[in-house]
Amino acid sequence: MPDHLAPPPSALDALLGRASVPPRLLRAPVPDRAALDLAVSAALRAPDHGGLRPWRFVFIEGEARRALGDLLAASLLARAPDTPAERLEIERGKPLRAPLVVAAGAAINHDRPGVPPWEQEASAAAGIMNFLHALDATGFGGCWLSSPSLKDPAVLTALGFAAGDSLLGWIYVGTPEGDRPRPIRPAPEAFSRYWTPGS
Ligand SMILES: Cc1cc2nc3c(=O)[nH]c(=O)nc-3n(C[C@H](O)[C@H](O)[C@H](O)COP(=O)(O)O)c2cc1C
Repeated sequence: MPDHLAPPPSALDALLGRASVPPRLLRAPVPDRAALDLAVSAALRAPDHGGLRPWRFVFIEGEARRALGDLLAASLLARAPDTPAERLEIERGKPLRAPLVVAAGAAINHDRPGVPPWEQEASAAAGIMNFLHALDATGFGGCWLSSPSLKDPAVLTALGFAAGDSLLGWIYVGTPEGDRPRPIRPAPEAFSRYWTPGS
């Protein structure tokens, strides 16, 4: 654990206390390479059927966010050629809402019938969750967002993903401004039960 990072809470406190921080509340500083490496290391502990290591994280910060915005606007225009200019500008500006955007995805191995793509995506998604937890535990904040552009092959290619890979989310990252949002904590009983044969 690098000395300059916040001392971590206990594992259970961290699990129970994590909350997404919306992009509008994320400010500089962003995690440096050491903090990002730590968060990626946490991601690499996600369950991984077949040891395929599907986790992929692409960091986009500074001016590169503008180029991502151009990509998102071009993707929207390709999907919907009649999109008004104002709406395109909104799309273009999305990556500028937080100081760091992480394109999180899965490198999919299509030659392993015993480990179908959904399992590899599930492992990558579990990795993203660990990544978010590690950010929270080190004093940063993040929010997992999606958009139709995640499915655009042109966007995947531009970000260095291979054809057939999956882009799973845009993770907006930064330092939370003010108090962290309080986690929503519904009662666990509504989401779980024992199964007995015949019930
Ligand atoms: C795959 C995935 C995609 C998501 N996409 C969006 C999104 O596009 N917009 C949004 O407002 N929330 C989205 N969310 C939800 C937020 O990341 C977040 O979970 C939600 O705001 C609730 O906050 P909490 O995580 O603190 O409970 C997505 C979550 C997941 C897992």
